[in-house]
Amino acid sequence: MTLLKLTDVGRRFGGLRAVDGVSFSVERGEIRGLIGPNGAGKSTLFSLIAGSLRPTAGRIFYEGGEVTGWKAHQAATAGVARTFQLMRVFSSMTVLENLMVGSYLRHPRRGEARARAEEILHLVELSAQADVPARSLTVASKKRLEIARALATGPRLLLLDETLSGLTPAEGREAVAMVRRINDTDITIVMVEHVMEVVMPLCDRVVVLDHGRMISEGTPAEVSQDRAVIDAYLGLP
Ligand SMILES: Nc1ncnc2c1ncn2[C@@H]1O[C@H](COP(=O)(O)OP(=O)(O)OP(=O)(O)O)[C@@H](O)[C@H]1O
Ligand SMILES: [Mg+2]
Repeated sequence: MTLLKLTDVGRRFGGLRAVDGVSFSVERGEIRGLIGPNGAGKSTLFSLIAGSLRPTAGRIFYEGGEVTGWKAHQAATAGVARTFQLMRVFSSMTVLENLMVGSYLRHPRRGEARARAEEILHLVELSAQADVPARSLTVASKKRLEIARALATGPRLLLLDETLSGLTPAEGREAVAMVRRINDTDITIVMVEHVMEVVMPLCDRVVVLDHGRMISEGTPAEVSQDRAVIDAYLGLP
């Protein structure tokens, strides 16, 4: 079953085509990679899918229905959650309280919201830090918390924007295992990631953007050997 489908999606900022004619589909259960050099349009594409920006061209379909131009709260209610490249954790709140904020979306009763938040902390291996202020976490744990916050809203589609970058190799391996565990709970994932050691083992297929355009799509092995992709990363015209 196709969970997400983009046809000819574009977004202009004045004269700049940040996203330009992008078309691809993501099947339910997939882990899809989204890669490309700085400024390629990856975060903008996430904003278009998650409803924080309107496309200026094209159409977006989610679970078979058209959702082009929907609002962020509509996307959240329908089960689309994203993380942000610049982390948005509430630093003075505890780790558990950070999750409760999202958890209330599906569980209006405090006890249930708390139970769900605790399950998610277990999934991302932050249970031991439940009651510490978010600001006292290490960078790697803050990234887990950012992912947990998105999970707390009960998504079926999770958009991860460079949440695994800047980790040590050991932290990276743990993060790969965590993404697999999340995916095993029937959550489809689209992830922006620069680190090929993370993309290669995790992603079924990868979409490559450059200057807003989709220049390649395929398995990680296919795209990493694609001449257009190599040239884009080397900055060749
Ligand atoms: N709100 C905005 N207003 C104007 N231009 C924008 C806006 N948001 C993004 N852009 C521009 O759109 C282009 C794509 O930006 P975007 O952040 O989507 O790239 P990215 O692939 O996520 O890059 P990075 O790898 O650095 O995170 C860039 O040229 C950026 O400057
Ligand atoms: Mg970005």
